[in-house]
Amino acid sequence: MSQRYTRIAIGLHWIMAIGFISMFCLGFYMQSLPFSPNKLQVYSWHKWAGVSLFLLALLRLVWRLSHPAPALPQSMTPFSQKLAHMGHYALYALMFAVPLSGWLMSSAMGFQTVWFGVLPLPDLIDRNKELANLLAATHGYLNIGFIALVAGHFLVALKHQFIDKDNLLARMK
Ligand code: HEM
Repeated sequence: MSQRYTRIAIGLHWIMAIGFISMFCLGFYMQSLPFSPNKLQVYSWHKWAGVSLFLLALLRLVWRLSHPAPALPQSMTPFSQKLAHMGHYALYALMFAVPLSGWLMSSAMGFQTVWFGVLPLPDLIDRNKELANLLAATHGYLNIGFIALVAGHFLVALKHQFIDKDNLLARMK
């Protein structure tokens, strides 16, 4: 079995890493803006990018299911290998749950998403103010969980690189 991820898997990993980290920043920034046409425009960009990341997550999952990941280094204990797999499953789950909860919230608020201002996307659920508030809170909590997990993932990658020195990062380069 190859010791590296495929080029497509590596490309998707880094495009999505940049995409999600930028979206965490944009999401917090846009909430702080005063109500204005500019704020609505930024919300639209956030929604377009969120739907794009959701589609990339679908593509990535299909690719991953058809192209197994390289085996983890033998130097890792079975427990660390299990933790690594669980962390990756959770990252995949959140790559779907975060954009999907945003799309559901926007639908429940009654604001249709028009992808890049060109393609109107279906609303996933009917307008419902109470549900919209619940989904807004859910979207926020999922993002906080995602940020914590990505931070942990980043720190573990650094530990492999500088403490374990097992060259794990090279599999994703
Ligand atoms: C912030 C900098 C990041 C670094 C340095 C980093 C590093 C890595 C490395 C080295 C691997 C390979 C681990 C292995 O060989 O098994 C990996 C895998 C993975 N990363 Fe990241 N990553 C980062 C950000 C992200 C982000 C933001 C996400 C979520 C969108 C993410 C999701 C994943 C997933 C799901 C895997 C497992 C891939 C698979 O087995 O299909 N990473 N990452």
